[in-house]
Amino acid sequence: MPADNPTRAKGNALKHVCIIMDGNGRWAKKRFMPRFAGHKAGLSTVRKIVSSCVEQDLQVLTIFAFSSENWRRPEKEVGLLMELFATALTREAKKLHENNIQLRIIGDLDAFSDKIRVLIDKALALTADNDGLILNVAANYGGRWDIMQATQQVARKVEEGLLAVDDINEAIIEDHLSLRGLPEPDLFIRTGGEKRISNFILWQLAYCEFYFTDVLWPDFNKKIFLEAIDSFHARQRRFGRTGDQLKEE
Ligand code: IPE
Ligand code: IPE
Ligand code: MG
Repeated sequence: MPADNPTRAKGNALKHVCIIMDGNGRWAKKRFMPRFAGHKAGLSTVRKIVSSCVEQDLQVLTIFAFSSENWRRPEKEVGLLMELFATALTREAKKLHENNIQLRIIGDLDAFSDKIRVLIDKALALTADNDGLILNVAANYGGRWDIMQATQQVARKVEEGLLAVDDINEAIIEDHLSLRGLPEPDLFIRTGGEKRISNFILWQLAYCEFYFTDVLWPDFNKKIFLEAIDSFHARQRRFGRTGDQLKEE
């Protein structure tokens, strides 16, 4: 029964927020600046929102930094985004560590350069023992990729005789997804006005609450973040039940 799964939050406890940080390019264009200036400004917003999550004692923040489809952008923009990722991994990791934040990177990391992979390993090792906020950065991440790689791992176990096909259930699939072991996202925020998932987390968004804002990511701030959280708390999460049933509990 899905309701018995402890990773699925009951009621309106807010443990995990995930964000599609969109609108950097348009923010820069409006200012007659190159798109990259928007990505740089977006990184300062990340700092503010991470600090707000720490202040609010949130357990997990998952942010979409680069999708598996973003490789389709002009080579120059992809190159600059990779440079920004490398700089952020070097400079921000120390600050994350000072704030007891555990950094995790989710996505297919094989596509990154050796340089970036070394920086990722270093940043992960530095913050691995921290027990404050868990910050998942989705990089070369795709929700479909995640389900596909989980399926491969499960199939391998079947092939090796460690698992029977009839024993595959939702919990086993979840145990092989990138966000395994974490509470599922309760609140999904997308800035920049688009109302789509763009291949972000798919499996765990099944019962997540959505919040869309036209504000472009570089303009997003703690105040708007708190408004999104207030909107979340004002909702009734029914998980398939009726409103009356919830009142009886
Ligand atoms: C989000 O902002 C950042 C990444 C996808 C890396 P965009 O770059 O998509 O900004 P817009 O949507 O073009 O304004
Ligand atoms: C989603 O934004 C990916 C990230 C924010 C990293 P996009 O700007 O790539 O999404 P689409 O292409 O508009 O759907
Ligand atoms: Mg965009």
